[in-house]
Amino acid sequence: MLSAVTASFPNGIGLGLRFDMARRFLDEQPDVAFVEIHPENYLRRGGLYRELLDRTLQRYPVLTHGLTMCFGHSSPFDRDYLHDLKRFLREVRTPWHSDHLCFGGAGGVFAHDLLPIPFTEEALTTVVQRFTEARDALDVELAFENVSYYAAQSDDPLDEARFCVEVLERADAKIMLDVNNVFVNSRNFGFDPRAWIDLIPPQRVVQMHVAGHLVRADGLRIDTHGEPIPDGVYDLLEYTLRRVGPRPVLLERDNNIPTLEELLAEVRRLEAVYERALETTGAA
Ligand SMILES: [Fe+2]
Repeated sequence: MLSAVTASFPNGIGLGLRFDMARRFLDEQPDVAFVEIHPENYLRRGGLYRELLDRTLQRYPVLTHGLTMCFGHSSPFDRDYLHDLKRFLREVRTPWHSDHLCFGGAGGVFAHDLLPIPFTEEALTTVVQRFTEARDALDVELAFENVSYYAAQSDDPLDEARFCVEVLERADAKIMLDVNNVFVNSRNFGFDPRAWIDLIPPQRVVQMHVAGHLVRADGLRIDTHGEPIPDGVYDLLEYTLRRVGPRPVLLERDNNIPTLEELLAEVRRLEAVYERALETTGAA
């Protein structure tokens, strides 16, 4: 079961607040279930950022999604960052915070990319320890996001889904399930995305992401968040919602951002998929 605080957040389709569209979005205040923000964009910043944040908080429930915590990283956390982040999460009243199941560098070098972790026992120990440390410091429900990756990891003793399940159980964690990332990995590495989803305990899922991605001429799919959502991701979202039940679902669009009308048209199509999925489970 989800905790009462987690379960009380509005379900439905939300949108990520991006500076390219933030002013128009906040002027028009379209009907979306929630807004997701990256704390890194607002921490220790005033002026325009503060204004956009205040206007967002006045109108929408907010979820937070981090870009720099990287639970597979082996370097110690920046305690000042965690301290400031904790205060920020309280201020925006998010019921949970999420960041990525990846590593971002080593030996003090930060790669500014979401690098995949090996699915090994050693990596599991690191992730569980780091995830638990972050959750204790932030004093908030914490979720990790499954990422897309591009290097074959066929020698690893665990596959990605089983690795995620181990982290969920050993750290008593939650998952921010990125449906597009599962789909992209399944096409690039040739596995069944529904079987991946089936392994994840539904009660551990607090939120989902969906996005579009690029298909290269050689067939490789790149998780760009810069394209419309393809039919395969809509289908996998519908399957996941039927299995997991109602959850907040975020449309992620970070690059090649279209007009607000186009973004909202995608939100409405997602809402139709959402309603259909939950009607069949009787949870709508
Ligand atoms: Fe995502």
